[in-house]
Amino acid sequence: MSRQVTASAPGKLMLFGEHAVVYGKPCIVVAVDQRMRVTVESSGDGNLKISAPEVNVADYVEKIDNLGDDKAPKGVRFVSVAVKNFFNFYNINIGLRVETRSDFPSKYGFGSSSAVTVATIKALSQFIRSKVNNDQIFNLSYKTVLDVQGVGSGFDVAAAVWGGTIYFVKGGKMTETIEHSVLPLIVGYTGIKADTPTLVRRVAGFYRRDKKLTDKIFDSIGRIVEEGRDALVKGKYKRLGLLMNKNQELLQSLGVSSPELNRLIKASKVAGAYGAKLSGAGGGDCMIAIVAPELRSSVERAIEKEGGVVLDVAIQAEGVRTEKI
Ligand code: MEV
Repeated sequence: MSRQVTASAPGKLMLFGEHAVVYGKPCIVVAVDQRMRVTVESSGDGNLKISAPEVNVADYVEKIDNLGDDKAPKGVRFVSVAVKNFFNFYNINIGLRVETRSDFPSKYGFGSSSAVTVATIKALSQFIRSKVNNDQIFNLSYKTVLDVQGVGSGFDVAAAVWGGTIYFVKGGKMTETIEHSVLPLIVGYTGIKADTPTLVRRVAGFYRRDKKLTDKIFDSIGRIVEEGRDALVKGKYKRLGLLMNKNQELLQSLGVSSPELNRLIKASKVAGAYGAKLSGAGGGDCMIAIVAPELRSSVERAIEKEGGVVLDVAIQAEGVRTEKI
């Protein structure tokens, strides 16, 4: 049997700072214990063969010289471009079979594309027995994400690489781990899949129309991130909730919230959450709420009553790791 290597990387949730991070402000992102797993082995010929059952791809075949083909289904493009960037970096060219498995559906907005990219780079590095460090994994993965989707701060790539909770500045200019105690967080899924590049472009349009106002909003979000970091470290959950509410108001003024997100956020606050906000690009995907332990079940019920799905996720998950060599 040929040698197989499996690596995995976690998904993420944005605590504070989405969108403003694309314009150079910091953000705070936390890794979630929902992982993407990537297994690599030799294909025995000159092709890359990708299976990704969760996105209905079975044995997609690409010639190694032709990697990153625009026509590849979205579900495999990140893997294919990751392999291409890795091969270019190491100047290698071998046929591979890659299988991806996911603990979570891509519709949740947990960053499956970044996680699968990071896990692919890690699995490849183990496969060729090279000692790639986390900074190199970040750089190759971030390049891959930009090659495929054109936009992105890289915060989701950083969460997949380092795990835990991270204070992050675009492109990895700053990646600092924040130590804190377990967060009383609730995650509610709206049932609607959002498209990050579309929402990033919407904010770019907003910025073009009123640069002065948008800069003011980004400055305020930047201050919330700094205060949020302090509240997180000190375990001041009431304060964190208030900051989430403020961050949500600013995101709403940028036009990236949605009626579904607003309904779940309002319901959780009425049920007693300290605060709540959307998490990620907006437009759908997930919201998060901070809540006192005794009110957790009332807030969860309130979210469900409004049509949301409460997701059971643990946070501060471990970053990319080898599962099997
Ligand atoms: C999307 O989850 C978060 C954004 O800030 C985009 C990014 O940072 O890449 C909207």
